[in-house]
Amino acid sequence: MNSNHSDIVILGLICIALGAVFLVFFVLDTASKDKKKWYLAIALGTGVIAFALKIILIVTISSFPTQALELFPKKEYKKEQIASIKYQYKSANKSLITNYSWEALPQKAPAPLDNPTTRNKVALGMKLFNDKRLSFDNSISCASCHELSNNKGGGDGLALSIGINGQQGTRNAPSIFNAAFQNVFFWDGRADSLEEQAMGPILNPVEMGIPSAKVIEEKLSAIPEYQNAFAKVFTESPAISISNISKAIAAYERTLITPDSPYDRFINGEVHALSLSQKRGMALFESVGCVQCHSGPNFSGANSLGDSSVFRIFPATPNTKFESKYHLADDLGVVDGTAGENMGIWRIPSLRNVSRTAPYFHNGSVNSLTEAVKIMANIQLSKKISNKSEDDSHFFWSKDNKQIYNATNQALNDNEIDDIVAFLKALDGLIPGDKMNCKNYQQDCIVNVIAKDTLQL
Ligand code: HEC
Ligand code: HEC
Repeated sequence: MNSNHSDIVILGLICIALGAVFLVFFVLDTASKDKKKWYLAIALGTGVIAFALKIILIVTISSFPTQALELFPKKEYKKEQIASIKYQYKSANKSLITNYSWEALPQKAPAPLDNPTTRNKVALGMKLFNDKRLSFDNSISCASCHELSNNKGGGDGLALSIGINGQQGTRNAPSIFNAAFQNVFFWDGRADSLEEQAMGPILNPVEMGIPSAKVIEEKLSAIPEYQNAFAKVFTESPAISISNISKAIAAYERTLITPDSPYDRFINGEVHALSLSQKRGMALFESVGCVQCHSGPNFSGANSLGDSSVFRIFPATPNTKFESKYHLADDLGVVDGTAGENMGIWRIPSLRNVSRTAPYFHNGSVNSLTEAVKIMANIQLSKKISNKSEDDSHFFWSKDNKQIYNATNQALNDNEIDDIVAFLKALDGLIPGDKMNCKNYQQDCIVNVIAKDTLQL
């Protein structure tokens, strides 16, 4: 219900209350016959108004389109989503997705209409991404925290990132790879586009520490090679503005995608691209319920190609031993405490290249992928992690709903966890400089080298 409707309800309640007051007067006031008539008339009148308002309210609500939520503007929609997350989590736990369709990563990332991906823009973005002058003391570039190498996987390999002056942030650096396919950014989804996101770290006092947009604009405007490059790329409005800087960086990021992983090759028809263990892991990933959240080609509910919810409660099961061991509920994400005590709300991250992006979770508290998978299965899907067969029948009783969940919930044993981990390793794709197996793709299939043969800056 939006605020207009709650206003009507309040008005109705006031009318009813007024009516009640006058009725009381009517009953108590036995002295004057005249006054009594008035009290009765006003009581009946207010009652009729309240009734009319009620009818109007019912008619308005029932004429709402069923997908009213989708009609809210994006920023407001997020708040509405938060309210529905609890419900989504509960229903997800009860009804497993059936007929889940697996998808390969597309060969190109979509770009917004006002920032088409052009070769020169990508080259400029690449230059900016690697330029330490984008930080206040010329010590750090975007690439310092988002390394495009095999062992860092587009992150920095640290639990928490270190910005200028050795200052430590409070969150783990997520992979820059395939961010192009996400529809919200940061662990708590607080940026809506790559363009908006790129301004964040430059102006963040802990990350790159530039005090204002004007400072960076003036700094780069004094560099002749940038004057030329911006003029070539943004022919209509060549200003070295924070908006053009962000556009160029975002265009470059849209080329940082990692297709052709063993998983993608399997989806595209190479049946032997996955090992037996990986195939078992893939089946478990679906049957255990990971796909309820990590879905679509980017294995993230927050991907621009899917239509499921962006956010989930994490930890979904509060007060587990994992939660206290790894401090998983110290930071509560989107809106502190919205979901309830010790329940944070977080964007569902992508699992592409996840074997390369340790340590894990928003606070980088978990070093091993095996442990991360156990945590996920246990706290997000109430799975017991055990090698004992007696743990295979696991009873979960909801006092609130008076319902039994997962009565035949089989425990996950070490072999099964290993299979899921093996499957996740099959999501490691090609990174910049890797040569791609072009067979499955059309023209222009060599990813991430787009910037090399183009504009000389
Ligand atoms: C000091 C380290 C550091 C630097 C420098 C840095 N980042 Fe990040 N980056 C992070 C951290 C940490 C996060 C996650 C922050 C959060 O979620 O609150 C992040 C998040 C992101 C994301 C979101 C990814 C996702 O999946 O949501 C993108 C994209 C990104 N950074 C791009 C950039 C760009 C572009 C630059 C340069 C302008 C940059 N970063 C500079 C540490 C850094
Ligand atoms: C109910 C939704 C949900 C389910 C089900 C779920 N996840 Fe997650 N997953 C999340 C969220 C949200 C996060 C981010 C947690 C955070 O903020 O640190 C996450 C994080 C992860 C991470 C860490 C990613 C990183 O880069 O640090 C891994 C690995 C992971 N999930 C694997 C799995 C696996 C495997 C399963 C199935 C056993 C699974 N998840 C089931 C929602 C879910």
